[in-house]
Amino acid sequence: MKIHSLGYLVIQSTDPAAWRDFGTRILGLMPGRHDDEGTLWLRADERCQRLVIEGGEADEVAAIGWELRNDLVLEDLLAEFDAAGVAYERVEGLAARRGVADLVRVTDPAGYVLEFYWGMQVEPAPFVSPAGVSGFRTGSAGLGHVVLAAHPFAETNAFYRRRLGFGLTDFADMGGTPGHFLHTNERHHSLALIGVDRSAWFVKGGLVHLMVEMKTITDVGMAHARAAAAGCEFFETLGEHANDRMFSFYVDSPAGFPIEVGAGAVEIDPDTWTSVDIPFPDMWGHQVLGVPEQ
Ligand SMILES: [Fe+2]
Repeated sequence: MKIHSLGYLVIQSTDPAAWRDFGTRILGLMPGRHDDEGTLWLRADERCQRLVIEGGEADEVAAIGWELRNDLVLEDLLAEFDAAGVAYERVEGLAARRGVADLVRVTDPAGYVLEFYWGMQVEPAPFVSPAGVSGFRTGSAGLGHVVLAAHPFAETNAFYRRRLGFGLTDFADMGGTPGHFLHTNERHHSLALIGVDRSAWFVKGGLVHLMVEMKTITDVGMAHARAAAAGCEFFETLGEHANDRMFSFYVDSPAGFPIEVGAGAVEIDPDTWTSVDIPFPDMWGHQVLGVPEQ
């Protein structure tokens, strides 16, 4: 796999204080080195950041960070981009602003800004959740997964599959819309592509959702209780997905898009996995709330 894992998400926010409250009090993430209205880093593990909140004019996803194992992998990827005519840029000072050794930016066919990087800084202070979460499952599986509004679908799918080497874990017909779940490590999917554009009612702040995985079912239940007590809006009720068997709920973030908070997902072996068609999304639960009337 050329891409090791989902590394981080960068979010532009009109209200970073709301993100600080939501991120620490509801999700249980830990404030990092940068903690002000301009830039907020939120930690989920020993890394210096897993969410970067940048103060700005809009509430939306600004970039998706994909981790590479080392400098040579980045070199090889750039050689492939050169050969294939994929445009990329190194933004002056951006690697330092993300706490990584080196970074290049690429825009995918659906318009998402991707940051391919290696060498993220590790903090000396251990991760301690301010909300008492026992921990987040990251490490070799990365931050979690992102689900994108992938339009045009075929071109976006080909970019991730052929250019970046993601594997197809499974797929589903979502009422006439394709949904493809892609892996780049043992996590069932680090990325999912849904064949809609950003005008779809469930795409908010540019994203379908971000998933973070906690260590235990108890962590998820307690996060659900915190969100309910704080009056957060839920996008989906508690449930268990059919494909990754994630026990989770979805809560709206200050950017609009929901964050799926889960635990207990299955792992796959990327070397032996064969793609399957899973035409039912859930084993139970996950009722979608707030579906607009037709
Ligand atoms: Fe998900």
